[in-house]
Amino acid sequence: MAPAPATDPIIGQTFGNVVAKSLLGRGGMGAVYLGYHAGLDMKVAIKLLPDLFVGRTELVERFLREARLSGRLQHPNIVRTLDVGQSHGVYYLVMEYVEGVDAQKLLDREKRFSPMRAVNIAGFVARALGEAHEQEIMHRDIKPANILIARDGKVKVTDFGLARSLTNTATALTLSNQVVGTPNYMAPEQIKTTTVDMRVDIYALGVTLWQFLTGILPFEGETPMAVLLNVVNEPLPMPEETFGALPKELREAIVAMTAKDPRRRLPNIPAVLAVLKKARDALLHAGLDSTAPLNSSGTRPPVGETRDPVSGASFAAPIPVPPKDAPPKRADPNTFSKPLGSEGAGKPAARPASARPGTAPPQRKPPTR
Ligand SMILES: Nc1ncnc2c1ncn2[C@@H]1O[C@H](COP(=O)(O)OP(=O)(O)OP(=O)(O)O)[C@@H](O)[C@H]1O
Ligand SMILES: [Mg+2]
Repeated sequence: MAPAPATDPIIGQTFGNVVAKSLLGRGGMGAVYLGYHAGLDMKVAIKLLPDLFVGRTELVERFLREARLSGRLQHPNIVRTLDVGQSHGVYYLVMEYVEGVDAQKLLDREKRFSPMRAVNIAGFVARALGEAHEQEIMHRDIKPANILIARDGKVKVTDFGLARSLTNTATALTLSNQVVGTPNYMAPEQIKTTTVDMRVDIYALGVTLWQFLTGILPFEGETPMAVLLNVVNEPLPMPEETFGALPKELREAIVAMTAKDPRRRLPNIPAVLAVLKKARDALLHAGLDSTAPLNSSGTRPPVGETRDPVSGASFAAPIPVPPKDAPPKRADPNTFSKPLGSEGAGKPAARPASARPGTAPPQRKPPTR
């Protein structure tokens, strides 16, 4: 990824109704800028697609089709697509601007999430996927970088359907001689076959949850191709230093979401929500209820704490903790139908790895993404 030049020629340029203001970040499929939409008088995010598109009518048409489809999605956990077009020879996508941070950057800072926070974020992503899948729209590139966490704690999934334009592995490989997309989150059938269904999103969400908990990526390899081979052939590891200290329901949820054979995988989002709810209930029962990053002394915020100790963001709804020795509390049946707690995006504090069960430091360097 080339660093942004000191004076970025894109800044100040107009794309349709949007003026590009500053670079938000670059990914495998172009760059995203903060923009100002004059017509709507609001901040927006504008994604500029790479040159790969130029002159490739079929690719452009597929991108436009997918963008139109994703534009139909309206859900509190999905970043709205507002417009799509071409300007200065560049294809662009205008979307809702989410002021906050993506879950990958948050993970980079915090190393890993508390189990409850990990499960909550996965639950919100599952709700977004549920809405899309009902409309027969696959995401195809679920990963932490595509999960935005707003300052107010809302979780929003971005790049819906966009990956379909580029990350069909076969197309991507022949187009650029490298994998476009993110090998570690690709389901085996996404690599081996051309016919995939909604279950690829379930697989990727399972890997994402695994990464939230461990702070590392499961499959290593010197090259994207080596990672792909490991995705297909190697079992998903379940490191004891993380999972040994967590309720078995969490491990079971991930195993069920990441089965290599899609026929053995959880078949749909309601099934995913059910296992996540079980995992969440088990965490509550075990007293692992905190959604906040640990504070600088490595201790948990006190029970009932309603503010993120680091960012100061207030928790949308404090999670009740059952008294010791109480029978397992039946959690709210609407677990993932309303916000449960802050997924605050504030600056995290340093914390000792020993401070929390299941949070030994990463053992491996993250492989190529
Ligand atoms: N709607 C948005 N609002 C605010 N920030 C966004 C928005 N969409 C993307 N970003 C930010 O822009 C950065 C680049 O996003 P981009 O989608 O290009 O990269 P990526 O997700 O890492 O890779 P990929 O190209 O595979 O999706 C991300 O770091 C993300 O935080
Ligand atoms: Mg993205």
